[in-house]
Amino acid sequence: MRILFINGPNLNLLGQRETAVYGRATLADIRRRVARRARALGVQVDFIQSNHEGVIVDRIGAARKRYAALVINPAAYTHTSVAIRDAISAVALPTVEIHLSNIHAREDFRHRSLSAPVCAGQICGFGPLSYELGLEAAVALAKAAAKSAGKRP
Ligand code: DQA
Repeated sequence: MRILFINGPNLNLLGQRETAVYGRATLADIRRRVARRARALGVQVDFIQSNHEGVIVDRIGAARKRYAALVINPAAYTHTSVAIRDAISAVALPTVEIHLSNIHAREDFRHRSLSAPVCAGQICGFGPLSYELGLEAAVALAKAAAKSAGKRP
């Protein structure tokens, strides 16, 4: 089973960006944590980051054949992107939205997520642990989907 992690704009700057909000872990540190957890769960993970909405839309659209589930931190696009929401809807893969910070405890404009309603659920506020919890949720969803389709995961 293969899971795709998609990271949106400015997450390449983690570790130096607003560390009081996002902490000191870099995206590479988080990727290592996810890879360790993936090994323990016996699944494969691919991990991408882009600052470009269209690239993210393309990667979601191309995910259908290769991946059993998606875990996405759309970053600022969470609050603005109808295109990313529509791509998640269109690809119809089990999808988990994650955030490092608790977006509901921050500025009003961050309270609304355009993508969360088309995801299975949202995990936010746990720092890098949000990524590991997102992986756990995605694996459980993918297994359930494979079971209901009568396939082996
Ligand atoms: C974020 C929260 C977003 O509001 C923000 O634009 C980000 C990061 C998070 O992981 O906490 O870039 O998605």
